[in-house]
Amino acid sequence: MAFANEPLHLLLLLSFSTCLSSTGTTSTIKPQRLVSKLILPGSVHHPNYKPNETAKERIEFDIQYSTTRLAYIKARIEGSLISNEYTASAFPSLTGRTILANISIGQPPTPQLVIMDTASDILWIMCSPCSNCDHHSGRLFDPSKSSTYSLLCNTPCYFKGCKCDPLPFSIYYVDGSSASGTYGHDKVLFETTDEGTSQLWSVLFGCGHNIRYNRDPGYNGILGLNNAPLSLATQIGHRFSYCIGNLADQYYSYNQLILGEGADLEGYSTPFQVHHGFYYVTMEGISVGERRLDIAPDTFGIKEDGTGGAIIDTGCTLTYLVDGVHELLYREVRNILDGFFRQVIIENTPWMLCYHGSIRGDLDGFPVVTFHFADGADLALDPGSFFHQFQDDVFCMTVAPVNDLDNISKPSVIGLLAQQSYNLGYDLNNHFVYFQRIDCELLSG
Ligand SMILES: *[C@@H]1O[C@H](CO)[C@@H](O)[C@H](O)[C@H]1NC(C)=O
Ligand SMILES: *[C@@H]1O[C@H](CO)[C@@H](O)[C@H](O)[C@H]1NC(C)=O
Ligand SMILES: *[C@@H]1O[C@H](CO)[C@@H](O)[C@H](O)[C@H]1NC(C)=O
Repeated sequence: MAFANEPLHLLLLLSFSTCLSSTGTTSTIKPQRLVSKLILPGSVHHPNYKPNETAKERIEFDIQYSTTRLAYIKARIEGSLISNEYTASAFPSLTGRTILANISIGQPPTPQLVIMDTASDILWIMCSPCSNCDHHSGRLFDPSKSSTYSLLCNTPCYFKGCKCDPLPFSIYYVDGSSASGTYGHDKVLFETTDEGTSQLWSVLFGCGHNIRYNRDPGYNGILGLNNAPLSLATQIGHRFSYCIGNLADQYYSYNQLILGEGADLEGYSTPFQVHHGFYYVTMEGISVGERRLDIAPDTFGIKEDGTGGAIIDTGCTLTYLVDGVHELLYREVRNILDGFFRQVIIENTPWMLCYHGSIRGDLDGFPVVTFHFADGADLALDPGSFFHQFQDDVFCMTVAPVNDLDNISKPSVIGLLAQQSYNLGYDLNNHFVYFQRIDCELLSG
């Protein structure tokens, strides 16, 4: 299994990068506001954008991919419950309605579209020469053509003529995809918000020369943002923030990721813990309008054996709530809507609560659904975040039950639709996540 001896590698990597910095061979300019625009699923700028896709097809994909993501979450939790090894690192699902970040690597800089994944451990990209990278987007990064690239050697090379034994990189995925190659350092170019200038940073990443995947990915790698030692969040300032606007607007262009010191940590905060590579928050309850649902206080608690809990995830579009809670919410929404709209049963997804009608015109008066977290932080879902327009005249609730999982791991998952209209800021030093309700456009200044 990949990464079975990861802890050793990590030690090597970390001691080596410390050496590099202290000998002054890499630039260590402190970043100010390292920004990458984010390309959300469904956006006209997304390489997987399908102009003719109907809203119905889109949400069917969302359901399918959210299910895949949930299977990945489950596999990873079970993997790390079974063994303490780093096997869990190997499982981000590559499929999905992914969020892409656009970063440029090397000198000259080569733009790369990479999946932003809050649950992944490292940054890796496809590198030239490459076997099976045929469907990448844009130009592949060629380390031999970058004047600033340096391989990471198994034993540090301090002398001229020392032959580098490159540190191998490999990662395997639940869907059978994989990437392997070597670890290296290079500059990564971000946009900054101060007058469009750019900042450079020396970053450690996996360079994948052998790729295997099952479907045309339309991206060039993965940008990992969990708290693992080599994630980009850890390498760059231990903080990051991302702002998610409106997924229904294909032209909305203010979604953004900010790394390092300049990350936006604003609004109400709630503590997080990282387990199995995921960001867990303490969810305390749910309100529909003023009415607080009757949920037992420990319902969302993470159990001693590492199961349960509530995860914030960017790879899952839908939100998943443990059975009983989903049932309560479902009933509450039915109580409000049944008298006004006709319910629609959707084939294959009978759990989905759908009605004839339109979110825009018909649901203006619908109460805000609020997820409550420890320390008073709230995530407020207006009808556009809580419902999805399934067809022109059918809307559905975007919260699903996790009942299709067996009993070993039943986390609730706060998905991407629920994070719309919010900036989420992660402070990895103090273990707090900040929720700020904001139009992402206002962060651009
Ligand atoms: C999408 O629709 C346009 C115009 O309606 C049509 O010309 C095009 O062939 C369609 N593309 C696909 C992939 O179906
Ligand atoms: C990514 O960034 C590069 C350089 O700024 C730009 O040329 C390219 O169009 C961007 N790609 C996308 C899909 O936005
Ligand atoms: C799930 O629950 C059943 C019945 O409570 C039990 O027999 C089974 O061992 C559990 N499975 C796991 C994987 O814990």
